[in-house]
Amino acid sequence: MIVVGIDTSCDDTSVAVYDGHRNLVLSNIVSSQYEFHRPFGGVVPEVAARKHAENIDVVFEEALRVAGIGVDDIQLVAVTRAPGLLPALLVGLTFGKGVAFCRRVLFKGVHHIEAHLLSPFIGSEPEYPFLGLVVSGGHTLIVLAEEFGKYRVIGKTLDDAVGEAYDKVAKMLNLGYPGGPVIDRIYREFKGEYLELPKPRVKGFNYSFSGIKTAVRRLIEKGYPAEQVAASFQKTAVEYLVGKLKRALKETGVRRIAVSGGVSANSLLREKLKELQKQGYSVFMPKMEFTSDNGAMVAYVGYRRFLLEGGDSLEVGALPRMPLEGVSS
Ligand code: KG4
Ligand code: ZN
Repeated sequence: MIVVGIDTSCDDTSVAVYDGHRNLVLSNIVSSQYEFHRPFGGVVPEVAARKHAENIDVVFEEALRVAGIGVDDIQLVAVTRAPGLLPALLVGLTFGKGVAFCRRVLFKGVHHIEAHLLSPFIGSEPEYPFLGLVVSGGHTLIVLAEEFGKYRVIGKTLDDAVGEAYDKVAKMLNLGYPGGPVIDRIYREFKGEYLELPKPRVKGFNYSFSGIKTAVRRLIEKGYPAEQVAASFQKTAVEYLVGKLKRALKETGVRRIAVSGGVSANSLLREKLKELQKQGYSVFMPKMEFTSDNGAMVAYVGYRRFLLEGGDSLEVGALPRMPLEGVSS
């Protein structure tokens, strides 16, 4: 079954073509809008929506061309419907419905976090139970995935997402947008001493990143060099992420970890997870191209949801928020 996956939930316009029977991604085109949001140091929803609208047909055509298929070959259209920036989501959803309507093919709305959660398994099948660490610009979650569709969020950030903290710290240090890749590079090149930053104590497996951000601001005001502040921030943020994850592993007794989202591209986080692998845990990480928002993960999850529950009607709407627990359309 040939599936088209579409994601316009934030600032990437993405369309992928996926062969469900062969579990094979035939193309995955991502058009990033970074340059348009850079002057603002963050994503502006109306700008994102306008750029998606200008670009989606081009990205769609490119995805079909690379996959070597025509519009007539599409059998299922899977689109991110929630959560995300509402005006941005609506562009992909409406475009996807248009394709499904005109070609008289099946349609499936997809939950963006479920797509990230299962992205480490694209090309294979998810192994349950696992603990999912979903770390992106909009989300920081620890999810206990018991089986396909049965998820329990056991930890989440109480304020900023970790990627958002990266972006805000980079903005304070005038390092540009998005902050993650720049700070990661600085960390790799940094040879000096790390500065002490607090790891906020919050209940259970929850996180808080606003205190770290405030501490960073103070260090900048005291005149510490940008490289030292940035590298210290990364060390603290990643140790904090992994520390809580380790506690969750211990308390749940789960032996599998699947990390996903834009921040899962982080080199230090990957290093720390490889250490856990050496300790006997099974660690699943997405390919680099599937870390940030992409259509492939939407097609992968959309196809599996379709097999389980069939297609959706075109009445499915976009939602800025939608709980992951009990997700179904
Ligand atoms: O998953 P994603 O593309 O979009 C959302 O759904 O939010 O994540 C984007 C986030 C940005 O905040 C970006 O700074 C961060 O992922 N990011 C990184 C790295 N690459 C991207 N954070 C840390 N280290 C990286 N190497
Ligand atoms: Zn995302």
